[in-house]
This record gives sequence, structure tokens and C-alpha cells, in this order.
Amino acid sequence: MTAPSSSPARRAADLRARIVDANRRYYEDDNPDLSDAEYDALYRELEALEKAHPELVTPDSPTQRVGGGRTQGFAPVTHRVPMLSIQTATDTTAAAALEFDARIRRDLELGPDAPPVAYCAELKFDGLAMSLRYEHGVLTIAATRGDGETGEDVTANVRRIPGIPARLRGNAPPVLEVRGEIYMTRADFAALNERQAAAGGRLFVNPRNTAAGAVRQLDASDAVERPLHFFAYALGETDGYALPATQGDLLRALARFGLPVNEDWRVVQGGEGLAAFYASVEARRHALPFEIDGVVYKVDSLARQRQLGFRTREPRWAVAHKFPPQEMPTTLVAIDVQVGRTGAVTPVARVEPVFVGGTTVTNVTLHNEDEIRRRDLRVGDTVIVRRAGDVIPQIVRSLPERRPRGTEPWEMPTQCPECGSAIVRLPDEVIARCEGGLVCPAQRKQALLHFASRRALDIEGLGDKLVDALVDGGFVHSAADIYALDVPTLAALPRMAEKSAANVRAAIDASRTTTLARFIYGLGIRHVGEASARDLAAHFGALDALMAASVDALLEVRDVGPVLAESVERFFAEPHNRAVITALRKAGVHWPEGPPQRAAAEGPLAGRTLVLTGTLPHLTRDEAKAMIEAAGGKVAGSVSKKTDYVVAGEEAGSKLAKAEELGVAVLDEAGLRALLG
Ligand code: IVH
Repeated sequence: MTAPSSSPARRAADLRARIVDANRRYYEDDNPDLSDAEYDALYRELEALEKAHPELVTPDSPTQRVGGGRTQGFAPVTHRVPMLSIQTATDTTAAAALEFDARIRRDLELGPDAPPVAYCAELKFDGLAMSLRYEHGVLTIAATRGDGETGEDVTANVRRIPGIPARLRGNAPPVLEVRGEIYMTRADFAALNERQAAAGGRLFVNPRNTAAGAVRQLDASDAVERPLHFFAYALGETDGYALPATQGDLLRALARFGLPVNEDWRVVQGGEGLAAFYASVEARRHALPFEIDGVVYKVDSLARQRQLGFRTREPRWAVAHKFPPQEMPTTLVAIDVQVGRTGAVTPVARVEPVFVGGTTVTNVTLHNEDEIRRRDLRVGDTVIVRRAGDVIPQIVRSLPERRPRGTEPWEMPTQCPECGSAIVRLPDEVIARCEGGLVCPAQRKQALLHFASRRALDIEGLGDKLVDALVDGGFVHSAADIYALDVPTLAALPRMAEKSAANVRAAIDASRTTTLARFIYGLGIRHVGEASARDLAAHFGALDALMAASVDALLEVRDVGPVLAESVERFFAEPHNRAVITALRKAGVHWPEGPPQRAAAEGPLAGRTLVLTGTLPHLTRDEAKAMIEAAGGKVAGSVSKKTDYVVAGEEAGSKLAKAEELGVAVLDEAGLRALLG
């Protein structure tokens, strides 16, 4: 925000320009650049300034008229009864409710002994104000607020909103203008954005702007793509309609006309009643299916409303009491990267601490590089941070008009901040990854658990808890360090005793003697599962041969495709990974090596690929797999055109369906046995 300039006149002019601009962005472009809180602060400042210096008030000052305006393309509609906005209380404590009540009592000249004033307390829907004109019960015009006096005719679009009746129920008067809010549910908004993301489109900022944009789409057929709803809460012009006595009665009457009225309203007594309503709504605000930005208090009696009347811009009998904001601007100080347990590298925004959605936010995940580019986020930018309920904070957008000079587009670092290994992003992937699988501290626990797992080096007892303790205690940095652990060290760890320590130590020793296939699998190379590890071991026969293999050489291995081949090559190209392998060998990890076995496997299933699915009557998965492999066959995890047979047991699911779809032969256990001879 700009610093107050020297003279009040200049400051007032600044503020006016800023507010007019903000109004245009909000009402006409559906692309606000200020948070509500910021806008309110500017508005209040201008109001205060004009109050202190009445000579500064200009007729076109935004304080003298309702914000907003019209865009080209829609026919103007004059509101016979202007569409006003309400005074906003930004103080988010109970005090604002008590103050409003005190002010009303003063204005109504009620003495201290007069009974509490009855108020109708409602939700403040965060949508787009709408006026629906019904003549003899038939919807004739739907208009936006515009500048309050003149709005836009959006009837064609609004007619497509299913919840808005084309005809009122019951005995409708000659003229009934109904005012309310058009909104979009959170669920519809999320689904819409998912579709946008899948289609690679621009993401919508929030439900309010999305709803507003949809209503003001010039092409009515676009509007239906965004599901909209409506809540009625007030009247405009009426003719031949006997007004009810209270706002509560009015809401009931609107509902009887078949209009959607939100049921979450209450008539409460006095300031305390308002404060209690505020607190109860705030507590469950995020559980509501749509967004609200506060509550609205209205003097319940319509006679009293008439008595209180209006100020220039606002009724004196109502106030909007806002909740703490969910979107706030702040400065993007840095973009760092975080490395996850699987090596995924995620950019994280460090922002100037900002209080939003009830907490102070300093870090915001940015998901991936493309997202940063799409939103053109740069260090130094002013960004809007949003935190709605328990949803993790997000950066909605940056404000390029507030961008300082000399900023640069962000680039993904080329080296992992945790271990210095290369960060690689494959052409078809969204996620970048650290290649230092064996050495990266961020990936260490995951890598160690995988290395020790039953199908890899099979170190019994080296589970989650122990790995946590070993890594957190600084005893183990890479897999090679496991072999240096002694019983006293292990026994001193939490939940360990002499006996269990000795057992783990024995399991570690036993794991030194392994097979090449298990060792390769244990390295945790991306895309290398057990079957590929076995194929690689058989094909190369020796680890050094595998480590030296080019992508082309790797592609010669049975069932190895380019993704796997490149992954293997990258893994062994990483010096850190090679160092750990050397250390493991030094620690005594060994396996029999032999000549490469490149001849086709023998047996009745040589060269055949099978997929297992469901539960077989007499064989476990592992038993069936072992039998197939002994017969020279291969077991794959998913069904493709290359699959020769699918062996299906009970409760077979999608794999069976896939087999049928692709015309792959399906066998039961008996069929498999027959095949094996
Ligand atoms: S009553 C004369 N009731 O908030 C008073 N307004 O800045 C007419 N709003 O323009 C408004 N929920 O767009 C009223 N339950 C509610 C509301 C509500 C949302 C909007 C409306 C209004 C703005 C106030």
C-alpha cells in the first residue's frame, strides 16, 4: 500500500483513484487486485479523511456512490429502487456486534430500560448481488447491481440457473423485485478447477469471481458450464404487495414464493444475540457448502427499518460483520525447493508472514515448476495468499502491476539442496526429482527401509521405528553405515534391548550374503522393480557390467524399455550413488556373479508374460509367481497388449476387465497348472 502522501488533498485524490480502479477491477473485470481487507482499509481511510476535511469531498468520490459500473455488451437496467450495499464492520471481535446494537438503540432513541432490539441475523454470501424482477409472478428481468442505480441485463444467463424459478408459486403481486446473491458451491468450484487443470486451462481464483464471470458471460451457453445457485434475502421495487412486518417474515414469504432462501438465519435479541450468532457461524463457516465472508445483521422490524432510513450509500438498519479475511496480499521473499521421501522436488514459496484464514502463513507449497510458470510468480512479487478453512494455504496469483523492477522468472535448481545430486525432470513428467536416491538425507529413511525390505537385502527387524532412530540419531547416513552398527549402539536406542539388538545385528550380518538381483532391487532405482532387477542381474551377470551399461545396452535386456533404461543409467551416473555402492562392497556385501545369461529362458512358458489377479484357490501369489518363473515365464504387474495370459482367481478386478477388453487369454488356477504341464 502507498505511504500516506504529504497533503490530505493529495492523499484523498490518491485514495479515490485507487478505489475507483479497485471497483472497476472487482465489478467489471472480475479480477480484483486488492483483498477485501485492503479495500476496506483504503475506503475507511478516505471516509475518515473526508470527514475531517469536508471540503475534500468530490461528487464523484467513491464514498458518494455505490462502487461498480457496467461493462459493454449488456443492456442497462435502471433499478427503480437502488441496490445498496451495507456498511461493513471489519473489527472481527464481538465488539462490532455490540457497537451496532448500541448505535441502533441510540438512533431509535431507546432508553436503557427498553427491551433488547430484535435483529434478523443472516449469512453474508460471498457471491454476486442480483435483482430478479417478477411481474405477475413471471421472471422478466435479471440485473446485476452495477453502480447501484443502473445494472446490466443478464436475464438470458440467469434464466439458465436451475434454482431460480421462472414463475413464482402462489399468489404473486403485479411487481415483486427480489434481491439476493448468486453463488457457486465449493464442490462445484473445485470440480470446475479440476477440469480446467486437466484441460491445461487457466485456474479460477475463487468461487465468487467464477460465479460473477459466469453470470456476465456474453454467450449464455458458456454460463451453464459453471453451475450457479441463488439465495434471496431482500426486496427491491414492489407493487401490490403488502410488506410483511419483519425481515424474518419476509424470508419466509420469499420461500413460499418458491424462491431459494438459505435457512441459516435467526432472529436474535440485542447485541449479545448478534455476537453469539457471529461466533456460532464463524465456528462452522468452513463446513458450509459455499463461501461466506461474514454475517449480516438487520433490524428485524420493517417499521423500524423505515424509521432508521438510509445514509447516502447504505441503510442505517443493517451492517455486515466480516470474518477474518481468507485472502491477503504479501511479498514473495524466496522460492526454495523441498525434497520428499521419494525424491520428488517441490518448490515452496517463502512469504513475508501474513495473517490469513486464522493463522500466520510463511510457507506456501507451489506444487511444481509449471504452476509457477503458469502464474508467472517471481521473487519480489506481491502475491495473494489464500487459506480457506483447513485447506493448505495457496498462492492465488501475483499482482504484476506491483512487481518491482529487475525480477526474473524462477528456475528449478539443477542440484538437490539436501545432497548436491542432480535434479532431473523427465520430458513427460511434471515432477522434478533428486537423483541421489542412496545418499540424499531427505530420501534416506525411505531408501534404507527399501534396502532392508524382505525382497531386497532382507534385514529382519530393521523397520520404521528403528530406521527413524538410526537416522535421527545420526548413526546411519547411507545403507553402507548399517554394516558398521554394533550391538551396544543398537541396544541404546529407544525400544531396543540387548536381545533385540543382537538379533538385528545377526540379520545385518546375514544380509551380507545376497544375490545380485536382490542387491539391484535394494538400490531403489526408480522404475526398477523385482522382476526388472532379476532381468538385469541375469542379463549382465555382474554389477560392474550393469554399472557400465549404456542406455542402448540396457535396452537389449528383456522387457526393458527406454524409461527404465534411462533411469538405470542416470542412477549409476550419479557419483554419490557409486560411492555408496563401493562402501557397501567394502563392508562385505557380496553375491555370486556369473556369466551373462542372455539366452532365452527355457521351459514351457519361455518368453511368455503372465499377469496374476484375484485370489487363487490353492496357490498364494508368490507360489504362483515362483512356478511361472521356474517354467521360464515372467510375471508382470499390469495387463497390456504384450500380456500372453491373465491368471484370474476370485474377486479379480480391473485387470480381468482389461484382459477381456484387450482380448488377452484368461486362465484359472487349473488352466495355469495345465499350461505348466
Ligand atoms: S442485504 C440494503 N443480506 O453483501 C441491504 N446482503 O456489501 C441489501 N450480501 O450488496 C443487502 N449476503 O451483495 C444482504 N444476507 C445478505 C447478504 C448480502 C450477501 C451482499 C450483497 C450486498 C453486500 C453488502
